[in-house]
Amino acid sequence: MINVIGLGYIGLPTALMLASHGVEVVGTDYNRKLVDTLNEGRTTFKEEGLEELFREAREAGIRFTTEYRRTDTYIVSVPTPYDKFSKKVDAGYVVAAVKDVLKVCPKGATIIIESTISPGTVDKYIRPEIEAMGFRTGEDIHLVHAPERIIPGNMVYELLHNNRTIGADSREIGEKVKECYASFCRGEIVVTDIRTAEMTKVVENTFRAVNIAFANELARICRHDDMNVYEIIRICNMHPRVNILQPGPGVGGHCISVDPWFLVGDYPQLAKVIDESMKTNDSQPTFVLNRIYEIMQKEGITDNRKVGLYGLTYKENVDDYRESPTLQLLEAQERHLARPLKVYDPFIARDITANQYHDFDEFLEGIDLVVIMVKHDHIKRNWEKLKGKIILDCFNICPLEGTYHI
Ligand SMILES: NC(=O)c1ccc[n+]([C@@H]2O[C@H](COP(=O)([O-])OP(=O)(O)OC[C@H]3O[C@@H](n4cnc5c(N)ncnc54)[C@H](O)[C@@H]3O)[C@@H](O)[C@H]2O)c1
Repeated sequence: MINVIGLGYIGLPTALMLASHGVEVVGTDYNRKLVDTLNEGRTTFKEEGLEELFREAREAGIRFTTEYRRTDTYIVSVPTPYDKFSKKVDAGYVVAAVKDVLKVCPKGATIIIESTISPGTVDKYIRPEIEAMGFRTGEDIHLVHAPERIIPGNMVYELLHNNRTIGADSREIGEKVKECYASFCRGEIVVTDIRTAEMTKVVENTFRAVNIAFANELARICRHDDMNVYEIIRICNMHPRVNILQPGPGVGGHCISVDPWFLVGDYPQLAKVIDESMKTNDSQPTFVLNRIYEIMQKEGITDNRKVGLYGLTYKENVDDYRESPTLQLLEAQERHLARPLKVYDPFIARDITANQYHDFDEFLEGIDLVVIMVKHDHIKRNWEKLKGKIILDCFNICPLEGTYHI
């Protein structure tokens, strides 16, 4: 039996995937409301294919509880934010979960950390806690790091098809854990040591962050001298060894806007490009805000009630709004203007910010400038409704004439 600890965006689909592939699974989360919702037969977030997977896992007998279970294998997928001041990983949630596992697990148990952690976290924060509780790692407790790579919006497919990395103290344990993931994973599973697995995951997200920052910086340079960044990137990408990403309104979510900071926090004298890239991405929502002011001035819009932000989530077609560029932009805007801009997102049903609308038509009513902050498929089906409005498109997706770009 596997006890999956933490049933959020990563833990829940992983637990369901294992259960629907013949593994006995108990899912544990200390959030009682979340556990009750799952036990009532409802999922806790929207994701393509999740409902069906949930049904299959329930039919296969998955259980959800707030308690930790005594078993030989645990998967820990709890949050790993970064400390905003030191930029280092905040391993507090992982350490707390591991300590709770140790209260119930038998000797010989394997604890698989799926949460993203910075290189050295296991040795610095987790191993000492285990040993302080009287267990010997590698003998009484086997530690494994199996970072997760799936992307919200395509999680179920990616769980099945992505390649995986398993970092373990010994080859034998690594192979045992590999077998467990191979129950559903059709990708290649590489077994390595823990430090390499820790570093690999953070480096992957850092690679993405640096490349996005490069595209965002190009957008700023091109804006400065009125050049078309999209056309320039398109032509550059015709070069056989160039592959530039597209600029956007900023970076959000739980991974790319967080994990690269771990390297800046741990290696401040070495991680210079990474530090600058993160600062570029973090200031991109303010860059968009300044662009909004510029367009307002040019178009003679003096009242910010005439401006609306389309999209609140951190990426398209998901309901996750953590660290989203829109929220970052609103925070920056609060410092300049008393009244928050109008906001609408078809994926967000509850109120998470002031002046938020839940009906697209009501949102559009009375606004002159629409800013496309998220490229949901919904907006691509609704260009008709935007006719006659001034549009600032942060993605170059709008086919309407006269659209402004960042
Ligand atoms: N969301 C993503 O796209 C993504 C992708 C890859 C990796 N990751 C990584 O996966 C990890 C989890 O992220 P997430 O997005 O699933 O987080 P989340 O916030 O959606 O879920 C975490 C869950 O853990 C529960 N929890 C916290 N501490 C607990 C404890 N001690 N015992 C029981 N339950 C506990 C919380 O109640 C919450 O439901 C993070 O390290 C993250 O960086 C996330």
